[in-house]
Amino acid sequence: MKISVIGCGYLGAVHAASMAELGHDVVGIDVDQPKIAALQDAKAPFYEPGFEELLGRSLASGRLRFSTDMADARDAVLHFVCVGTPQKRGEYAADMRYVESAVESLLEALKPGDLVAGKSTVPVGTAARLAELVEGKVPGAMLAWNPEFLREGFAVQDTLHPDRLVYGLPADGNGERARAMLDEVYASIVATGTPQVITDYATAEMVKTAANSFLATKISFINAMAELCEATGADVKQLADAIGHDDRIGRKFLNAGLGFGGGCLPKDIRAFMARAGELGADQALTFLREVDNINMRRRIRMVELAREVCDGSLLGKRVAVLGAAFKPDSDDIRDSPALNVAAQLQLQGAVVQVTDPAAGENIKRSWPQLDVVDTPEEAAKGADAVLLLTEWKQYRELDPVAFGKIVKQKRVLDGRNALDRDSWTDAGWTYRALGRRAG
Ligand code: UGA
Repeated sequence: MKISVIGCGYLGAVHAASMAELGHDVVGIDVDQPKIAALQDAKAPFYEPGFEELLGRSLASGRLRFSTDMADARDAVLHFVCVGTPQKRGEYAADMRYVESAVESLLEALKPGDLVAGKSTVPVGTAARLAELVEGKVPGAMLAWNPEFLREGFAVQDTLHPDRLVYGLPADGNGERARAMLDEVYASIVATGTPQVITDYATAEMVKTAANSFLATKISFINAMAELCEATGADVKQLADAIGHDDRIGRKFLNAGLGFGGGCLPKDIRAFMARAGELGADQALTFLREVDNINMRRRIRMVELAREVCDGSLLGKRVAVLGAAFKPDSDDIRDSPALNVAAQLQLQGAVVQVTDPAAGENIKRSWPQLDVVDTPEEAAKGADAVLLLTEWKQYRELDPVAFGKIVKQKRVLDGRNALDRDSWTDAGWTYRALGRRAG
């Protein structure tokens, strides 16, 4: 199938390369010239395991190319809209300007019979509005909403092997045609028996925001329990293991620690609240405000804990921060809890050395005031405290004995409950973590 992918950020670039991998003829379009040049050159503009190989393969097959010119979408019959919907400055609502302008300029390239498939995370009601625009300007063209659930760090796998396909289809006679086109593009995924949810626009849009809200709530739930564990002396890790054995609860997304960040969960729950307010249903989502509050409190608590272990003052203390991306296997530092804590420590007078296997360049660009070093050993040299804030595998596997020889004080703060407490305490370290007693 000939398809275009509008917006080549995280979602779009991976989607474009994956669709080419599935055998389609794909053009990825973005207004960002340097990004398009990098992609066309088989260079991933972000860190994502497996993506660069996929990109190289897809380009070499001749089925994938990139362009800044929307006219190149003219040959395609299916157009995926994958642009970002960040949080508006000073407001909770999503900034829709990229979606608006992508669809506006796509109109020029659309023909009757074409399908526009929205993948961006949007406020409920957007698809119905855009469908009117598309059908009004190009009679015979259609719109569907097809949310994407990929996780950074697993983007390729999640795109090629999604756990469900959700189609929000037009209510009129075009519904069947739109479905057939989506089934054709995802034919090999459908053939493996992937569950499909065929529904209306509003439900499809809400599936995405509801899923992210549920995940955020689950994380904040266990982090609220961590606060209680700190007050009672209970252990949040064992608590999570124990309640997670109940199938109805499940152990996934019950890792207590610094909480959620990134370009999705924080802004999605806020945009959802803002949209509910516009719809006069704000009461239904007031709990998400608490989810957000619990999440933010963990960052503050981490800074307090660091001050506590540094004998009550951070002034002049050398602090090593291991991990800065919002989660492992990513170089994404958007709303990163780790960076938030690192910056706070520095503002409170600590001498902070940050290290991250992938996010170094992004930190230097966006947080030039922070010192970035290449290795955990460099970061920890002469440190009064070591903070593990993003649980990269290489940090989880550090040898506490060897590492203990580098630091000034053997104090480790495990912001992700990811270290083996016993092996660190056995090596003479003072171990502190959110929601667990001191070791
Ligand atoms: C999230 C969703 O998981 C995807 O399904 C969705 O498609 C994506 O947002 C999106 O909207 O595009 P992602 O932002 O890549 O994916 O990251 P997650 O794996 O969900 O992690 C989010 C944050 O929660 C990270 O900061 C992570 O460290 C934190 N987290 C996760 C916890 O604090 N505890 C946990 O148990 C799990």
